Amino acid sequence: MLGKIKRLGRSFFVSQARPDDVWAHQRLTRAEYGVYARMDPRDREHGVRVAQKLEGDYPDARAELVAAAILHDCGKSVRKYNVLERVLVGLIPYRLSAGWTLGAVKVRNEHPARGAEMVRLAGGRQDVAHLIEQHHSPRADVEAGLLHDYDTLE
Ligand SMILES: [Fe+2]
Ligand SMILES: [Fe+2]
Repeated sequence: MLGKIKRLGRSFFVSQARPDDVWAHQRLTRAEYGVYARMDPRDREHGVRVAQKLEGDYPDARAELVAAAILHDCGKSVRKYNVLERVLVGLIPYRLSAGWTLGAVKVRNEHPARGAEMVRLAGGRQDVAHLIEQHHSPRADVEAGLLHDYDTLE
């Protein structure tokens, strides 16, 4: 929850986001970087933070897992949130919003599937797309579970 609040604080001002695009570029294919470049700077910064923490703790993590961590929220770029939506959507737990059809909440709920689709269409790695698809519902997938844990911590 603390991570969520901290992240919420950072989500207000797009001009304050400082994503490490060079670091991300070194870990993504050209096609994947094209998807990354279309993400909101705040989501890029968040993805890079999640990936850097994960890679720091697991230096032997597969390259696909690190790439998926960088890109995991790319599905949110199908529709830009306004400031109020960012706050509200960030506060509504996933389990309570299943089936919501309201614009911003719908995007939030669908962003894992949309993100995976974007990476596949762009020609990114299949395993990267697969991990993105599962990052909020990892089930038995160990790598997706790790991504989920680090995403929650950030
Ligand atoms: Fe997500
Ligand atoms: Fe995330």
